[in-house]
Amino acid sequence: EEFIFNLKGLNRYVTNIENMYNCHCLIVPGDADSDESVKREMGKKAATLLKSLIRGKEIIAVTGGSTMAEVPRGITKTMEYENVMVVPARGGLGERVEYQANTIAAEMAKKLGAKYKLLFVPENLRPETLKTIIEEPVLSEVISMIKRADILIHGIGIAEEMARRRGLSQREVEIIKEKGAVAEAFGYYFDIEGKVVHYTPSAGIGIDEIKNISTVISVAGGKKKALAIKAFIKFFSPKYLITDEGAVTNLMNWE
Ligand code: BG6
Repeated sequence: EEFIFNLKGLNRYVTNIENMYNCHCLIVPGDADSDESVKREMGKKAATLLKSLIRGKEIIAVTGGSTMAEVPRGITKTMEYENVMVVPARGGLGERVEYQANTIAAEMAKKLGAKYKLLFVPENLRPETLKTIIEEPVLSEVISMIKRADILIHGIGIAEEMARRRGLSQREVEIIKEKGAVAEAFGYYFDIEGKVVHYTPSAGIGIDEIKNISTVISVAGGKKKALAIKAFIKFFSPKYLITDEGAVTNLMNWE
């Protein structure tokens, strides 16, 4: 009920997106690019939704980013979810600590009264190194949990911005642009048609595994992300999309 509060003028976008992508869409009024409180509000909505979906023993995988950082902030502390496990969806990004998936997973678990496991594997490792590392028994436990996640909650970014934030070289950034990448999510880059055009190898959730996760919640807003959001949902229809007015009204159509 709380999720059907969408403003009248935004209803046509909700209907359009829901029909087109077969997902539940929630649009927060305002534009996260120009108003901090909009991102906070998306976080709150995501938090409420997340709590409503937990039945008791779920594994929840979360990504990093400034949007995801608002989700634990939006949770009122409780001790209700002691059998829930929160894990980061991927390894570290080397970003500001408060935006790292590990930090957000721990914060979320604390707020829910849940358990958590962290994954201390940097991104940008050479594939050979990564392969050796993920076979380590200390890591295989958390990796197998990540791969069995019941719920994935993640952000969506603008390809070029995320490539820089993820510390890719200038050359790689150019390559990604040439390949037509507009969106990024958990280290994968998508073109306008939602095709994966590039990825950063990492421990954690792989692109094909996301299709096995029963509940995926995508949270992203702001005018500048409109195209990125569309590209991502073309690749994969999440069960829930939480976005904002700035993003949805910036595209003439969502088809
Ligand atoms: C990253 C996530 O950490 O944050 C990505 O792994 C996402 O999936 C990105 O694209 C979004 O960041 P922000 O700060 O724009 O919410």
